Amino acid sequence: MKLTITKSLNKVKNLIFLTDKITNLKDQLSQQNYTYFKKLWKDEDMQFVKGAEGYIFIVKTTKDVDKIRKEAFSIHDILKKHYKEVTVTGDNTANLLAFAEGFLLSDYQFLKYFKDADKKRNILKKLTLHGAITQKEVTELQNLIDTVYWARDMVNEPVSFMDAPQLAAEIVAKGKASNYKVEVLEKGKIESLKMGGLLAVNKGSEVPPTFTIIEYKPKNAKNKKPIILVGKGVVYDTGGLSLKPTAHSMDLMKSDMGGAATMSATIDALAKNKVPVHVIGLIPATDNRPGKTAYAPGDVITMFDGTTVEVLNTDAEGRMILADALAYANKYEPELVIDAATLTGAAVRALGTKTSISMGNAKDAYFRKLYEAGQKTHDRVFRFPFWDEWKEEIKSDIADLKNLGGANAGMITAGKFLEHFVNYPYIHIDIAGPAFLEAPDSYNGKGGTGAGVRLLYQFLKDL
Ligand code: BES
Ligand code: ZN
Ligand code: ZN
Repeated sequence: MKLTITKSLNKVKNLIFLTDKITNLKDQLSQQNYTYFKKLWKDEDMQFVKGAEGYIFIVKTTKDVDKIRKEAFSIHDILKKHYKEVTVTGDNTANLLAFAEGFLLSDYQFLKYFKDADKKRNILKKLTLHGAITQKEVTELQNLIDTVYWARDMVNEPVSFMDAPQLAAEIVAKGKASNYKVEVLEKGKIESLKMGGLLAVNKGSEVPPTFTIIEYKPKNAKNKKPIILVGKGVVYDTGGLSLKPTAHSMDLMKSDMGGAATMSATIDALAKNKVPVHVIGLIPATDNRPGKTAYAPGDVITMFDGTTVEVLNTDAEGRMILADALAYANKYEPELVIDAATLTGAAVRALGTKTSISMGNAKDAYFRKLYEAGQKTHDRVFRFPFWDEWKEEIKSDIADLKNLGGANAGMITAGKFLEHFVNYPYIHIDIAGPAFLEAPDSYNGKGGTGAGVRLLYQFLKDL
Protein backbone atom coordinates (compact mmCIF):
# COMPACT_ATOMS: atom_id res chain seq x y z
CA MET A 1 0.00 0.00 0.00
CA LYS A 2 1.15 3.51 -0.79
CA LEU A 3 1.53 6.14 1.90
CA THR A 4 1.21 9.79 0.87
CA ILE A 5 0.68 13.21 2.38
CA THR A 6 -1.92 15.79 1.43
CA LYS A 7 -2.55 19.39 2.42
CA SER A 8 -6.25 19.37 1.63
CA LEU A 9 -9.21 17.27 2.68
CA ASN A 10 -11.30 18.22 -0.35
CA LYS A 11 -13.26 15.39 -1.96
CA VAL A 12 -11.98 12.81 0.49
CA LYS A 13 -14.16 9.70 0.64
CA ASN A 14 -13.14 7.64 3.65
CA LEU A 15 -11.94 9.93 6.36
CA ILE A 16 -10.53 9.15 9.78
CA PHE A 17 -10.26 11.87 12.39
CA LEU A 18 -7.71 11.44 15.17
CA THR A 19 -8.65 13.96 17.82
CA ASP A 20 -8.60 14.58 21.55
CA LYS A 21 -11.77 16.71 21.59
CA ILE A 22 -14.96 16.10 19.67
CA THR A 23 -15.63 19.85 19.70
CA ASN A 24 -12.58 20.24 17.41
CA LEU A 25 -14.66 18.61 14.69
CA LYS A 26 -17.72 20.82 14.93
CA ASP A 27 -16.98 22.64 11.69
CA GLN A 28 -15.73 19.61 9.84
CA LEU A 29 -18.73 17.33 10.28
CA SER A 30 -22.32 17.70 9.20
CA GLN A 31 -24.65 18.78 11.99
CA GLN A 32 -26.23 15.34 12.05
CA ASN A 33 -22.93 13.44 12.28
CA TYR A 34 -21.57 15.81 14.86
CA THR A 35 -24.55 15.28 17.14
CA TYR A 36 -24.29 11.53 16.69
CA PHE A 37 -20.56 11.31 17.44
CA LYS A 38 -20.80 13.74 20.33
CA LYS A 39 -23.30 11.59 22.14
CA LEU A 40 -21.01 8.55 22.12
CA TRP A 41 -17.74 10.44 22.51
CA LYS A 42 -17.31 9.83 26.24
CA ASP A 43 -17.69 6.06 26.07
CA GLU A 44 -16.17 5.12 22.71
CA ASP A 45 -12.50 5.29 21.69
CA MET A 46 -13.48 4.64 18.09
CA GLN A 47 -16.75 5.23 16.31
CA PHE A 48 -17.90 5.54 12.74
CA VAL A 49 -20.77 6.25 10.39
CA LYS A 50 -21.15 4.99 6.87
CA GLY A 51 -22.56 7.46 4.37
CA ALA A 52 -23.21 7.24 0.64
CA GLU A 53 -19.70 8.53 -0.08
CA GLY A 54 -17.83 6.33 2.37
CA TYR A 55 -16.98 6.08 6.02
CA ILE A 56 -16.19 8.66 8.64
CA PHE A 57 -14.26 7.36 11.64
CA ILE A 58 -13.46 9.21 14.82
CA VAL A 59 -10.59 7.89 16.92
CA LYS A 60 -9.64 9.35 20.28
CA THR A 61 -5.95 10.24 20.52
CA THR A 62 -4.00 8.67 23.36
CA LYS A 63 -0.51 8.42 24.85
CA ASP A 64 -0.80 4.66 24.42
CA VAL A 65 0.15 4.59 20.75
CA ASP A 66 -0.32 0.85 20.48
CA LYS A 67 -4.02 1.39 21.05
CA ILE A 68 -3.95 3.53 17.91
CA ARG A 69 -2.14 0.81 15.94
CA LYS A 70 -4.87 -1.59 17.00
CA GLU A 71 -7.66 0.83 16.09
CA ALA A 72 -5.98 1.14 12.71
CA PHE A 73 -6.16 -2.62 12.37
CA SER A 74 -9.91 -2.61 13.11
CA ILE A 75 -10.55 0.17 10.62
CA HIS A 76 -8.39 -1.53 8.03
CA ASP A 77 -10.45 -4.66 8.48
CA ILE A 78 -13.66 -2.76 7.71
CA LEU A 79 -12.29 -1.05 4.60
CA LYS A 80 -9.84 -3.49 3.05
CA LYS A 81 -12.14 -5.26 0.63
CA HIS A 82 -14.29 -2.28 -0.34
CA TYR A 83 -12.30 0.90 -0.88
CA LYS A 84 -9.13 1.90 -2.66
CA GLU A 85 -8.28 4.96 -0.65
CA VAL A 86 -8.53 6.29 2.83
CA THR A 87 -7.35 9.47 4.50
CA VAL A 88 -6.46 10.11 8.11
CA THR A 89 -6.13 13.54 9.67
CA GLY A 90 -4.97 14.83 13.03
CA ASP A 91 -2.68 17.16 14.92
CA ASN A 92 -0.89 14.53 16.99
CA THR A 93 2.17 13.31 15.09
CA ALA A 94 2.83 10.24 17.25
CA ASN A 95 -0.77 9.12 16.83
CA LEU A 96 -0.78 9.75 13.09
CA LEU A 97 2.38 7.72 12.69
CA ALA A 98 1.09 4.92 14.88
CA PHE A 99 -2.11 4.84 12.90
CA ALA A 100 -0.24 4.60 9.62
CA GLU A 101 2.05 1.94 11.07
CA GLY A 102 -0.81 -0.21 12.32
CA PHE A 103 -2.70 0.26 9.07
CA LEU A 104 0.22 -0.73 6.84
CA LEU A 105 1.19 -3.68 9.01
CA SER A 106 -2.42 -4.87 8.81
CA ASP A 107 -2.41 -4.76 5.02
CA TYR A 108 0.26 -7.47 4.65
CA GLN A 109 -0.81 -10.56 2.72
CA PHE A 110 1.19 -13.57 1.60
CA LEU A 111 -0.60 -14.67 -1.57
CA LYS A 112 2.24 -15.98 -3.73
CA TYR A 113 0.99 -19.57 -3.77
CA PHE A 114 -2.71 -18.93 -4.44
CA LYS A 115 -3.99 -19.52 -7.96
CA ASP A 116 -6.61 -16.82 -7.44
CA ALA A 117 -4.33 -14.43 -5.59
CA ASP A 118 -5.81 -11.42 -7.38
CA LYS A 119 -9.25 -12.17 -6.00
CA LYS A 120 -7.89 -12.49 -2.50
CA ARG A 121 -5.90 -9.28 -2.62
CA ASN A 122 -7.12 -6.32 -0.57
CA ILE A 123 -8.67 -3.54 -2.62
CA LEU A 124 -7.01 -0.82 -0.53
CA LYS A 125 -4.19 0.89 -2.39
CA LYS A 126 -3.48 4.17 -0.67
CA LEU A 127 -3.37 5.71 2.78
CA THR A 128 -3.16 9.50 2.77
CA LEU A 129 -2.01 11.41 5.83
CA HIS A 130 -3.09 14.93 6.62
CA GLY A 131 -2.02 17.24 9.42
CA ALA A 132 0.94 17.12 11.77
CA ILE A 133 3.24 14.98 9.68
CA THR A 134 6.19 15.46 7.34
CA GLN A 135 7.27 13.66 4.20
CA LYS A 136 10.46 12.60 5.98
CA GLU A 137 8.50 10.82 8.71
CA VAL A 138 6.28 9.13 6.16
CA THR A 139 9.21 7.91 4.07
CA GLU A 140 10.99 6.51 7.10
CA LEU A 141 7.90 4.64 8.17
CA GLN A 142 7.22 3.31 4.69
CA ASN A 143 10.80 2.00 4.43
CA LEU A 144 10.58 0.35 7.82
CA ILE A 145 7.29 -1.36 7.02
CA ASP A 146 8.64 -2.53 3.65
CA THR A 147 11.42 -4.32 5.48
CA VAL A 148 8.96 -5.88 7.96
CA TYR A 149 7.05 -7.16 4.92
CA TRP A 150 10.25 -8.61 3.54
CA ALA A 151 11.00 -10.34 6.85
CA ARG A 152 7.46 -11.77 6.91
CA ASP A 153 7.77 -12.97 3.32
CA MET A 154 11.00 -14.78 4.07
CA VAL A 155 9.51 -16.49 7.11
CA ASN A 156 6.33 -17.45 5.26
CA GLU A 157 8.22 -18.94 2.33
CA PRO A 158 8.48 -22.71 2.64
CA VAL A 159 11.83 -24.43 2.39
CA SER A 160 10.82 -25.74 -1.04
CA PHE A 161 11.67 -22.19 -2.14
CA MET A 162 13.61 -20.58 0.69
CA ASP A 163 16.61 -22.87 1.12
CA ALA A 164 19.96 -21.59 2.37
CA PRO A 165 21.29 -20.42 -1.03
CA GLN A 166 17.98 -18.67 -1.74
CA LEU A 167 18.06 -16.90 1.61
CA ALA A 168 21.55 -15.65 0.80
CA ALA A 169 20.43 -14.57 -2.69
CA GLU A 170 17.54 -12.56 -1.20
CA ILE A 171 19.96 -10.68 1.01
CA VAL A 172 22.35 -10.05 -1.88
CA ALA A 173 19.49 -8.57 -3.91
CA LYS A 174 18.44 -6.27 -1.06
CA GLY A 175 22.03 -5.17 -0.57
CA LYS A 176 22.20 -4.13 -4.22
CA ALA A 177 18.90 -2.28 -4.05
CA SER A 178 19.61 -0.48 -0.77
CA ASN A 179 23.33 -0.03 -1.36
CA TYR A 180 25.27 -1.99 1.24
CA LYS A 181 27.83 -4.77 1.05
CA VAL A 182 26.81 -8.43 1.08
CA GLU A 183 29.24 -11.31 0.79
CA VAL A 184 28.09 -14.93 0.66
CA LEU A 185 30.51 -17.59 1.86
CA GLU A 186 29.79 -20.84 0.01
CA LYS A 187 30.30 -24.34 1.35
CA GLY A 188 33.96 -24.58 0.24
CA LYS A 189 34.84 -21.41 2.09
CA ILE A 190 32.85 -22.50 5.15
CA GLU A 191 34.86 -25.74 5.12
CA SER A 192 38.18 -23.99 4.84
CA LEU A 193 37.19 -21.72 7.74
CA LYS A 194 36.34 -24.90 9.69
CA MET A 195 32.90 -23.75 10.80
CA GLY A 196 32.26 -27.12 12.39
CA GLY A 197 28.88 -26.25 13.90
CA LEU A 198 27.31 -25.05 10.68
CA LEU A 199 28.82 -27.94 8.72
CA ALA A 200 27.63 -30.51 11.27
CA VAL A 201 24.01 -29.35 11.08
CA ASN A 202 24.25 -29.29 7.30
CA LYS A 203 25.54 -32.88 7.06
CA GLY A 204 22.09 -34.43 6.63
CA SER A 205 21.14 -31.98 3.89
CA GLU A 206 21.28 -32.24 0.11
CA VAL A 207 21.60 -28.47 -0.11
CA PRO A 208 24.82 -26.63 0.82
CA PRO A 209 24.93 -24.18 3.71
CA THR A 210 25.61 -20.47 3.31
CA PHE A 211 27.19 -17.90 5.58
CA THR A 212 26.16 -14.40 4.61
CA ILE A 213 28.06 -11.33 5.75
CA ILE A 214 26.24 -8.02 5.50
CA GLU A 215 27.89 -4.69 6.14
CA TYR A 216 26.24 -1.31 6.31
CA LYS A 217 28.84 1.32 7.09
CA PRO A 218 27.70 4.90 6.49
CA LYS A 219 30.39 7.60 6.48
CA ASN A 220 28.67 9.45 9.32
CA ALA A 221 28.36 6.39 11.60
CA LYS A 222 28.25 7.40 15.27
CA ASN A 223 29.88 4.20 16.55
CA LYS A 224 33.62 3.52 16.14
CA LYS A 225 33.33 -0.23 16.61
CA PRO A 226 30.61 -2.08 14.72
CA ILE A 227 27.45 -3.53 16.20
CA ILE A 228 27.01 -7.10 15.03
CA LEU A 229 23.64 -8.67 14.38
CA VAL A 230 23.61 -12.45 14.11
CA GLY A 231 20.49 -14.27 12.87
CA LYS A 232 19.63 -17.97 13.10
CA GLY A 233 19.03 -19.13 9.55
CA VAL A 234 17.71 -22.67 9.92
CA VAL A 235 15.59 -22.68 6.80
CA TYR A 236 13.86 -25.83 8.00
CA ASP A 237 14.20 -27.69 11.26
CA THR A 238 13.12 -31.34 11.24
CA GLY A 239 15.15 -31.89 14.39
CA GLY A 240 17.58 -34.03 12.39
CA LEU A 241 18.13 -37.57 13.72
CA SER A 242 16.52 -36.38 16.98
CA LEU A 243 13.48 -36.02 14.75
CA LYS A 244 10.57 -33.84 15.85
CA PRO A 245 7.12 -35.41 15.92
CA THR A 246 5.33 -34.12 12.82
CA ALA A 247 2.14 -32.45 13.97
CA HIS A 248 2.44 -29.04 15.61
CA SER A 249 6.16 -29.12 15.96
CA MET A 250 7.56 -29.68 12.51
CA ASP A 251 4.71 -28.05 10.58
CA LEU A 252 5.88 -24.57 11.39
CA MET A 253 9.60 -25.11 11.17
CA LYS A 254 9.98 -23.24 7.89
CA SER A 255 9.95 -20.29 10.29
CA ASP A 256 13.19 -21.33 11.94
CA MET A 257 15.09 -18.73 9.95
CA GLY A 258 13.08 -15.99 11.66
CA GLY A 259 16.21 -14.61 13.32
CA ALA A 260 17.97 -14.37 9.96
CA ALA A 261 14.95 -12.57 8.50
CA THR A 262 14.84 -10.18 11.46
CA MET A 263 18.50 -9.26 11.31
CA SER A 264 18.76 -8.83 7.55
CA ALA A 265 15.54 -6.80 7.48
CA THR A 266 16.73 -4.59 10.33
CA ILE A 267 19.93 -3.78 8.47
CA ASP A 268 17.96 -3.12 5.30
CA ALA A 269 15.76 -0.65 7.20
CA LEU A 270 18.78 1.11 8.71
CA ALA A 271 20.37 1.45 5.28
CA LYS A 272 17.20 2.59 3.51
CA ASN A 273 16.71 5.28 6.14
CA LYS A 274 20.40 6.17 6.29
CA VAL A 275 20.61 5.76 10.06
CA PRO A 276 24.18 6.69 11.09
CA VAL A 277 25.22 3.39 12.65
CA HIS A 278 27.83 0.88 11.50
CA VAL A 279 26.33 -2.61 11.59
CA ILE A 280 27.48 -6.00 10.40
CA GLY A 281 25.09 -8.89 9.92
CA LEU A 282 26.13 -12.53 10.08
CA ILE A 283 23.66 -15.08 8.78
CA PRO A 284 24.58 -18.76 9.02
CA ALA A 285 22.01 -20.80 7.11
CA THR A 286 21.16 -24.44 6.48
CA ASP A 287 18.30 -26.87 6.87
CA ASN A 288 18.45 -29.49 9.62
CA ARG A 289 17.55 -32.97 8.43
CA PRO A 290 18.06 -36.62 9.21
CA GLY A 291 19.87 -38.61 6.53
CA LYS A 292 22.55 -41.20 5.95
CA THR A 293 25.28 -38.71 6.70
CA ALA A 294 23.47 -36.56 9.26
CA TYR A 295 25.26 -35.58 12.47
CA ALA A 296 24.25 -37.82 15.31
CA PRO A 297 23.69 -37.68 19.07
CA GLY A 298 27.02 -38.55 20.65
CA ASP A 299 29.12 -36.89 17.96
CA VAL A 300 31.83 -34.51 19.08
CA ILE A 301 32.13 -31.48 16.84
CA THR A 302 35.03 -29.06 16.70
CA MET A 303 33.61 -25.60 16.26
CA PHE A 304 35.02 -22.59 14.37
CA ASP A 305 36.85 -21.31 17.48
CA GLY A 306 38.25 -24.74 18.40
CA THR A 307 35.75 -25.45 21.18
CA THR A 308 34.59 -29.08 21.13
CA VAL A 309 30.88 -29.82 21.54
CA GLU A 310 29.28 -33.14 22.37
CA VAL A 311 26.00 -33.30 20.49
CA LEU A 312 23.31 -34.83 22.65
CA ASN A 313 20.32 -33.69 20.65
CA THR A 314 20.51 -32.81 16.97
CA ASP A 315 17.37 -30.70 17.41
CA ALA A 316 19.44 -28.22 19.42
CA GLU A 317 20.94 -27.15 16.08
CA GLY A 318 20.38 -23.40 16.30
CA ARG A 319 23.10 -22.98 18.92
CA MET A 320 25.49 -25.03 16.76
CA ILE A 321 25.29 -22.69 13.78
CA LEU A 322 25.01 -19.52 15.88
CA ALA A 323 28.09 -20.45 17.90
CA ASP A 324 30.24 -20.35 14.76
CA ALA A 325 28.78 -17.00 13.71
CA LEU A 326 29.22 -15.53 17.20
CA ALA A 327 32.83 -16.69 17.31
CA TYR A 328 33.37 -15.25 13.83
CA ALA A 329 32.02 -11.92 15.13
CA ASN A 330 34.98 -11.60 17.50
CA LYS A 331 37.36 -10.65 14.72
CA TYR A 332 35.53 -7.35 14.24
CA GLU A 333 36.16 -6.29 17.86
CA PRO A 334 32.53 -5.19 18.10
CA GLU A 335 30.96 -2.71 20.48
CA LEU A 336 28.04 -5.08 20.97
CA VAL A 337 26.86 -8.39 19.55
CA ILE A 338 23.15 -9.18 19.37
CA ASP A 339 21.64 -12.36 18.03
CA ALA A 340 18.02 -13.12 17.22
CA ALA A 341 16.91 -16.72 17.02
CA THR A 342 13.85 -18.93 17.13
CA LEU A 343 15.96 -20.89 19.53
CA THR A 344 13.87 -22.76 22.09
CA GLY A 345 10.45 -24.21 22.75
CA ALA A 346 11.18 -23.29 26.37
CA ALA A 347 10.92 -19.59 25.46
CA VAL A 348 7.49 -20.17 23.93
CA ARG A 349 6.29 -22.14 26.92
CA ALA A 350 7.55 -19.51 29.36
CA LEU A 351 6.11 -16.35 27.84
CA GLY A 352 4.02 -17.35 24.83
CA THR A 353 3.84 -15.27 21.69
CA LYS A 354 3.51 -11.75 23.11
CA THR A 355 7.17 -11.07 23.76
CA SER A 356 10.69 -12.03 22.86
CA ILE A 357 13.10 -12.96 25.63
CA SER A 358 16.43 -11.21 26.07
CA MET A 359 19.44 -12.22 28.13
CA GLY A 360 23.16 -11.62 28.07
CA ASN A 361 26.20 -10.02 29.64
CA ALA A 362 26.06 -6.55 28.04
CA LYS A 363 25.74 -3.65 30.45
CA ASP A 364 22.34 -2.87 31.91
CA ALA A 365 22.01 0.36 29.95
CA TYR A 366 21.76 -1.64 26.70
CA PHE A 367 19.04 -3.85 28.13
CA ARG A 368 17.14 -0.83 29.38
CA LYS A 369 17.32 0.78 25.96
CA LEU A 370 16.22 -2.44 24.35
CA TYR A 371 13.28 -2.77 26.73
CA GLU A 372 12.26 0.83 26.03
CA ALA A 373 12.47 0.25 22.30
CA GLY A 374 10.16 -2.72 22.84
CA GLN A 375 7.66 -0.60 24.73
CA LYS A 376 7.73 2.13 22.09
CA THR A 377 7.22 -0.22 19.19
CA HIS A 378 5.16 -2.83 21.07
CA ASP A 379 7.62 -5.29 19.48
CA ARG A 380 8.40 -6.25 23.02
CA VAL A 381 11.24 -7.98 24.78
CA PHE A 382 11.60 -9.09 28.39
CA ARG A 383 14.89 -9.80 30.14
CA PHE A 384 15.64 -13.13 31.78
CA PRO A 385 18.43 -13.90 34.26
CA PHE A 386 21.75 -15.14 32.98
CA TRP A 387 23.65 -16.46 35.98
CA ASP A 388 26.69 -18.66 35.55
CA GLU A 389 25.12 -21.51 37.54
CA TRP A 390 23.36 -22.48 34.34
CA LYS A 391 26.72 -23.14 32.71
CA GLU A 392 27.04 -26.25 34.85
CA GLU A 393 24.29 -27.89 32.85
CA ILE A 394 26.13 -27.71 29.56
CA LYS A 395 29.36 -29.29 30.77
CA SER A 396 30.20 -32.51 28.98
CA ASP A 397 32.07 -35.58 30.21
CA ILE A 398 34.11 -35.86 27.05
CA ALA A 399 34.19 -32.41 25.42
CA ASP A 400 34.32 -28.71 26.32
CA LEU A 401 30.53 -28.35 26.11
CA LYS A 402 27.43 -30.35 25.33
CA ASN A 403 24.63 -28.88 23.27
CA LEU A 404 21.89 -29.83 25.70
CA GLY A 405 21.04 -28.53 29.16
CA GLY A 406 18.70 -29.95 31.78
CA ALA A 407 14.93 -30.32 31.53
CA ASN A 408 14.18 -26.80 32.80
CA ALA A 409 15.06 -23.24 31.79
CA GLY A 410 16.09 -24.40 28.33
CA MET A 411 16.07 -20.87 26.94
CA ILE A 412 18.76 -19.89 29.45
CA THR A 413 21.06 -22.91 29.06
CA ALA A 414 20.85 -22.27 25.30
CA GLY A 415 21.87 -18.66 25.92
CA LYS A 416 24.74 -19.74 28.16
CA PHE A 417 25.94 -22.09 25.43
CA LEU A 418 26.04 -19.20 22.97
CA GLU A 419 27.76 -16.86 25.43
CA HIS A 420 30.72 -19.26 25.55
CA PHE A 421 31.64 -18.20 22.01
CA VAL A 422 31.47 -14.41 22.39
CA ASN A 423 34.32 -12.25 23.72
CA TYR A 424 32.34 -9.00 23.60
CA PRO A 425 29.25 -7.46 25.22
CA TYR A 426 26.44 -9.73 24.22
CA ILE A 427 22.64 -9.78 24.03
CA HIS A 428 20.78 -12.91 22.98
CA ILE A 429 17.15 -12.53 21.90
CA ASP A 430 15.01 -15.65 21.71
CA ILE A 431 12.17 -14.77 19.31
CA ALA A 432 10.68 -18.29 19.14
CA GLY A 433 7.37 -17.05 20.62
CA PRO A 434 6.43 -13.99 18.56
CA ALA A 435 8.21 -14.78 15.25
CA PHE A 436 5.39 -16.90 13.86
CA LEU A 437 1.72 -16.86 14.90
CA GLU A 438 -0.76 -19.64 14.36
CA ALA A 439 -3.68 -17.39 15.23
CA PRO A 440 -3.95 -13.80 14.01
CA ASP A 441 -3.05 -11.08 16.49
CA SER A 442 -4.21 -7.64 15.33
CA TYR A 443 -1.71 -5.92 13.00
CA ASN A 444 0.86 -8.68 13.53
CA GLY A 445 -1.34 -10.94 11.45
CA LYS A 446 -0.92 -14.66 11.18
CA GLY A 447 2.21 -16.53 10.10
CA GLY A 448 5.50 -14.63 9.96
CA THR A 449 5.32 -11.39 11.95
CA GLY A 450 8.71 -9.79 11.39
CA ALA A 451 9.14 -9.74 15.18
CA GLY A 452 12.29 -7.91 16.22
CA VAL A 453 12.65 -5.69 13.14
CA ARG A 454 10.84 -2.66 14.50
CA LEU A 455 12.36 -3.36 17.93
CA LEU A 456 15.97 -3.43 16.76
CA TYR A 457 15.52 -0.59 14.30
CA GLN A 458 14.25 1.59 17.16
CA PHE A 459 16.99 0.36 19.51
CA LEU A 460 19.80 1.09 17.05
CA LYS A 461 18.32 4.45 16.10
CA ASP A 462 18.08 5.50 19.76
CA LEU A 463 21.57 4.29 20.61
N1 BES B 1 13.67 -24.34 16.31
C1 BES B 1 13.54 -24.99 17.56
C2 BES B 1 12.89 -24.11 18.63
C3 BES B 1 11.45 -23.72 18.41
C4 BES B 1 10.44 -24.47 18.95
C5 BES B 1 11.13 -22.57 17.73
C6 BES B 1 9.11 -24.09 18.77
C7 BES B 1 9.83 -22.18 17.54
C8 BES B 1 8.81 -22.95 18.07
C9 BES B 1 14.90 -25.41 18.10
O1 BES B 1 15.86 -25.72 17.16
C10 BES B 1 14.69 -26.63 18.92
O2 BES B 1 14.31 -27.62 18.38
N2 BES B 1 14.94 -26.51 20.22
C11 BES B 1 14.78 -27.59 21.11
C12 BES B 1 16.03 -27.63 21.95
C13 BES B 1 16.13 -28.84 22.82
C14 BES B 1 16.35 -30.07 22.00
C15 BES B 1 17.28 -28.62 23.77
C16 BES B 1 13.58 -27.30 21.97
O3 BES B 1 13.38 -26.14 22.37
O4 BES B 1 12.81 -28.22 22.22
ZN1 ZN C 1 15.76 -27.75 16.57
ZN1 ZN D 1 15.64 -24.78 15.32
